[in-house]
Amino acid sequence: MVLPEKIEKRFRRIEREYAARDRLAHYGLRYRQKILLYGPPGCGKTLGAERLAWHTGLPMVKVRFDAIVSSFLGETASNLSVVFETVDKMDCLLFLDECDSLAKSRSDPQEVGEIKRVVNTFLQLLDDYSPSSGMIVAATNLNESLDRALWRRFDDLIEVPLPGEQELRLILKEKFSTVEVGAIDWSRIIEQMSGFSAAQAEKVAQDAAKRAILDREELVIQPHLEEAIAEIKVI
Ligand SMILES: Nc1ncnc2c1ncn2[C@@H]1O[C@H](COP(=O)(O)OP(=O)(O)O)[C@@H](O)[C@H]1O
Ligand SMILES: [Mg+2]
Repeated sequence: MVLPEKIEKRFRRIEREYAARDRLAHYGLRYRQKILLYGPPGCGKTLGAERLAWHTGLPMVKVRFDAIVSSFLGETASNLSVVFETVDKMDCLLFLDECDSLAKSRSDPQEVGEIKRVVNTFLQLLDDYSPSSGMIVAATNLNESLDRALWRRFDDLIEVPLPGEQELRLILKEKFSTVEVGAIDWSRIIEQMSGFSAAQAEKVAQDAAKRAILDREELVIQPHLEEAIAEIKVI
């Protein structure tokens, strides 16, 4: 996973605290156990949760918020309680994906009362969650519309941002590790990819490699990359 150094450090801190959780507990301190990841799509929120599960050795239980906040809105709060009851009994990393759906449904006036109740239930469940091992990681694309009261409940809020120039370069390099690459004007390529998500950068690399192979070229060359970039831009 390619992240800016500052963000990488924050992920690593969570993992180090988890590894030292018994030592921390001895001093009455709790490791970071409730994490909120936010940022644009395709930049590593899901990947980041998987990475935390991998490094802590916790099995990951994935719950999509938009599946819980179902058309049976009346059942949402109790659905949530069931999820938390279940994960309380096992050591796992509970990944709550697409938390945006809480914020989104709130704009629907018919659902306001019910959503308030759901948010309150969620806040209560988060407050009560304090396992001796285990972790909650929530993810959202929106950073403004989530309830402020909700933000406060997390031990760590981490923005997973769009990749910068350095990260784009690294993602491309990593993806090209199995193919030969010719002389490329990297600064020009990176410039053309400004604003791309990590997922898009990965797709550019894959497309360029495939173009090179189909063209029976031994190398990925500038036009392969530029054509792949141009194609992503029109989508
Ligand atoms: N920071 C990153 N470094 C390397 N690859 C990434 C990164 N972020 C995303 N990707 C690639 O894009 C895919 C989609 O990313 P994902 O984590 O699902 O994004 P999000 O959950 O933020 O929408 C990943 O499976 C991975 O292949
Ligand atoms: Mg995701």
